[in-house]
Amino acid sequence: MTDTKRRLSLQGTIILGGDKSLSHRAVMFAAIADGTSTIRGLSTGADVTTTCNLFRALGVEIAADQSDSSITVVGRGISGLTSPAADLDCGNSGTTMRLCSGILAGSKVTARLVGDNSLMRRPMLRIVEPLRQMGARIEALGSNGTAPLLIEGAQLHAINYRSPVASAQVKSAILLAGLTADGPTSVTEPEKSRDHTERFLRALGCEITEDQMRVTVEPCARLRAFDYTVAADTSTAVIFAVAGLLVAGSSVRLERVLLNPTRTGGFDFLQRMGAGLAFENRAEEHNEPVGDVIVRASDLVAADSDGIQTASMIDEIPILAVAAALADGVSRFRNIAELRVKESDRIAGTIEMLKAYNISAETSGDDLFVHGGEIRKISEATHHGDHRLAMAIEVLNLVAEGELAGGYGDAISVSAPEFYSQLRKALR
Ligand code: S3P
Repeated sequence: MTDTKRRLSLQGTIILGGDKSLSHRAVMFAAIADGTSTIRGLSTGADVTTTCNLFRALGVEIAADQSDSSITVVGRGISGLTSPAADLDCGNSGTTMRLCSGILAGSKVTARLVGDNSLMRRPMLRIVEPLRQMGARIEALGSNGTAPLLIEGAQLHAINYRSPVASAQVKSAILLAGLTADGPTSVTEPEKSRDHTERFLRALGCEITEDQMRVTVEPCARLRAFDYTVAADTSTAVIFAVAGLLVAGSSVRLERVLLNPTRTGGFDFLQRMGAGLAFENRAEEHNEPVGDVIVRASDLVAADSDGIQTASMIDEIPILAVAAALADGVSRFRNIAELRVKESDRIAGTIEMLKAYNISAETSGDDLFVHGGEIRKISEATHHGDHRLAMAIEVLNLVAEGELAGGYGDAISVSAPEFYSQLRKALR
């Protein structure tokens, strides 16, 4: 490696792809709306493409316009979806499988939902049980409550569900089933998970009320078609922010990032570490807060996540652990048990990843401790096919080696196919 390479830093303005959570919802809600919707800035990640293909298999017309990278979706209403000819493939996407189960539970469709090896191992009883309480005909055919999921649409009853986990996928599955139920359906969570479904449905004319940790949806079988532009992905923005903070001399602006407070715990944690972050051009778009994030390379100190809602930074723990690896002191991430059931066991994956770069980390109960130290690559880290671990490893490579390894594109393309091109463009 030459000295010139070592001095590269992140500079300029970075425009990231559309937020994955918002993109899934935009496609799904357009598919079950009445009329034609147009969506711009949709995530080009494999997960969202999976959602588009799934609704195509349910009879929904979705067309891409290459000239302005928009898509149009001809909504059929929930009752207009038709049974697919083959299994519905949810790929690597838990959001696709769980939210679509909620939609299909109250439709006229019979379908079997499957996914890749990772998704077929993830827990599905967390949605199957409440949906069954609503009268849904849904079965988890795999061992220990895993997919394939067999769903036969049915008339649903309203329930008042207390969820044992703070999960937007569980909450959303129930709220979406509630659209066709016979009365108001409520979900109470132990901690508030991301609220995109609520905000979006409200914007489409549904009645949603909130009372502390409880959300209630009134039956709302008809959604208005819409014209929507997806803001840049919060989770990918945190990854670029950590890269900018850790690579000496960096100064970047991440444009029009989704800044919903149920998602921005990662930025809160970084600020607690002394990160040079600033937020500009704040605005409200489609019922969601957005803004630019300005990042300046900073010396970080260890932090404790106490008081920051875990759900608001749940996808960010691997990259925040990378920031903690470079910080002075021992950082603590509290209450992160849910990370064990993501696309991979991200607690084990994060500890293993840090070890490959000479950093020690351990768990105690459901908390993760990361000991800041001297980053040095001592072995090859593995991402286990998990997009968020793969991007975290590349940020470690950038800091430890002064360059990216490259070659993790397949894993990363699940959420951020633009990762390498945008990062390389910013490195000057
Ligand atoms: C998501 C919810 C979260 C998150 C996932 C996307 C969503 O999962 O980890 O990446 O779009 O609703 P859980 O609901 O399982 O926490």
